[in-house]
Amino acid sequence: MGIQRIESVIYSVDDLDTCARFFTDLGLAPRERGPEHAVFATLIGQTLHLRTGAATEGLPPSVEPGNNTIREVVWGAETEEDLAGFVAAVGADREVTRDDDGVFHSVDETGFGVGLTVAGPSGYEPAGQRAANTTGHVSRWNEALHSVGEVRPLRMCHVALNIPKAGREEAVAFYVDRLGFIPTDIVKPMGVFMRVPGDADQHNFLLCHRPDKASVNHVSFEVPGFDDVIEGGNAMIEKGWQEARRLGRHTVGSNVFRFVHSPAGGRVELAADMDRVDDTYGPNVHETAPPHHIWTLRTSRDA
Ligand SMILES: [Fe+2]
Repeated sequence: MGIQRIESVIYSVDDLDTCARFFTDLGLAPRERGPEHAVFATLIGQTLHLRTGAATEGLPPSVEPGNNTIREVVWGAETEEDLAGFVAAVGADREVTRDDDGVFHSVDETGFGVGLTVAGPSGYEPAGQRAANTTGHVSRWNEALHSVGEVRPLRMCHVALNIPKAGREEAVAFYVDRLGFIPTDIVKPMGVFMRVPGDADQHNFLLCHRPDKASVNHVSFEVPGFDDVIEGGNAMIEKGWQEARRLGRHTVGSNVFRFVHSPAGGRVELAADMDRVDDTYGPNVHETAPPHHIWTLRTSRDA
């Protein structure tokens, strides 16, 4: 029960053509295109929206300078009853509006738009996994690996937003107390990782403290495996996009990652093999930030 997944992410952008090309190159499926908006979908049917000009009317104000940022994240509840409860909880002290599609809209403590709806159907049929070999556990015989081909993100698995350090407890409490998010790892100097009850990813949402500003940090796209992370990142670089961080594996969440700067604001992450957790997990409280360096790819060849 409760929130099942990210349903939509809505960006406002200056350059619609460039941003539409970016998300096309990332492997999302184009759904709609107009002079001032574009819509893309993941394989499980979540939507990513780009809006410019008059199409941004009605969105909450940007939380950071400029237009290229996330203006709203829409969360999908399991049932109409759940949805009604969330709308009531959010509406206790702020305006909530309902649009013609039945999606409710409000803002969180930082000013990021929060949308609420009933989660759409996934319709995704998982393909077989690439077999792996190690001595004692051999599952691939007489078969060489080949390119994964065009990388298509399965889903938006998490969103990370930067929030000002002052007021961070209230910012987290909005999602925990009103929308039922579950804190999984609390990294005191850095931020709070949360998941939603309908998803087992170690996190679906991260509120990352920054000294004094709010901004978009990244949206993460799950791909099937490590090879997809490598090939997907390579494909973006070949198309002219800029890598933001060297390939690695996170110590919180354990996902392998590549990051690419997004013209729509912040970065996007290609992610695979994140920890899956249930209600027995956490919340783990980390007094200091867990080390980043364990799986950061080092090389002595750059010098
Ligand atoms: Fe991430």
